[in-house]
Amino acid sequence: MGHVELSGVGFDLPDGRPLLRDVSFRVGDGAVVALVGANGAGKTTLLRIVAGDLQPADGTISRSGGLGVMRQFIGSVRDSSTVRDLLFALSPERIAAAAAAVDALELALMDDDAEPVQLAYAHALAEYADAGGYDQEVVFDACCQAALGIGYEAAKWREVTTLSGGEQKRLALEVLLRGPDEVLLLDEPDNYLDVPGKRWLEEQLRATPKTVLLVSHDRELLARAATQIAALELGAAGNTLWVHGAGFATFAAAAPMATASDPSTTIRRAARSSGFGSKLYGSTLATLALIQAKPASSAAWLTSTSCAERRPYFSLTQFLSVSKGTSKSAEKPPRRTMFLVRRSLISSAAMLLIGIG
Ligand SMILES: Nc1ncnc2c1ncn2[C@@H]1O[C@H](COP(=O)(O)OP(=O)(O)OP(=O)(O)O)[C@@H](O)[C@H]1O
Ligand SMILES: [Mg+2]
Repeated sequence: MGHVELSGVGFDLPDGRPLLRDVSFRVGDGAVVALVGANGAGKTTLLRIVAGDLQPADGTISRSGGLGVMRQFIGSVRDSSTVRDLLFALSPERIAAAAAAVDALELALMDDDAEPVQLAYAHALAEYADAGGYDQEVVFDACCQAALGIGYEAAKWREVTTLSGGEQKRLALEVLLRGPDEVLLLDEPDNYLDVPGKRWLEEQLRATPKTVLLVSHDRELLARAATQIAALELGAAGNTLWVHGAGFATFAAAAPMATASDPSTTIRRAARSSGFGSKLYGSTLATLALIQAKPASSAAWLTSTSCAERRPYFSLTQFLSVSKGTSKSAEKPPRRTMFLVRRSLISSAAMLLIGIG
């Protein structure tokens, strides 16, 4: 059993720029949720917040179950770490700590084999056994066989740099998927994998009982493996997230804006082409951005209308043509939407008048 839940998470970059704003979502037990978004949207940062590497400025994170993390850099390891180091680094913390203690005491015994050191070594071995270290070595053996075609004993002292990018990724995925951690955070697990490797990963993700939050840019993997999509959308005041409760196949229809750049840019462009030009002001833009960017699935007030059920959102151009009476469409935006936009336009005009006065 395992889950991850974020509520109202906000994160600012070291230079003070807001990166994430009010991010809330839940990865339920056994779900495979894909986190998608443009390069630099904050996917890796969000995974690092869930993993506890980074502290959010706002919000809370709750979690149950052991956590296994595959970071984005695996596949391009450049240091002198060994296969054994990599496998322990991806194992439950207690096993990794017990293995490190055994290593340290073996070194100490080379200099000093006095009774206290021997006793400490015996304790370290007992803790390694209790933590499940020997069972994990059996898992390591199966992982090395599957990923490299050789056993753990033959592979463990090889430097990770001598493995190809795809072999590094496959080995890391094998140990996380076969290991005991119930919750996995996988940052671009498909990078470096060849086509059979990707197919293997898709099958593993479909079959695993584990709870998985993964980042990927691969549409096929997303379509075949993800049960839900969490999309980060770019915004000047920090990137926001919305969740599409079904797979990737219906994601594009629900969120045409998800692949666009900053929604306010799209809106300004649409406003210019509609003749509204520079007369759009802050709160109006914000409301229009909401209408333009928010899919029906994440905005209760949109889904509550029959109109919004037929169309996920109304574009600015449609809104403007409806408000100018030039729309030939039989469909009208939801009344509540029209109300919000009108109210926003009036408040902008009032603010402008006050400013002029
Ligand atoms: N220490 C830092 N100082 C300034 N900016 C930073 C710092 N760390 C990260 N960033 C910025 O934060 C943004 C989010 O980075 P992150 O690695 O989370 O993006 P990502 O969504 O994982 O992108 P990709 O798809 O390319 O992996 C980027 O624009 C990055 O440049
Ligand atoms: Mg990243």
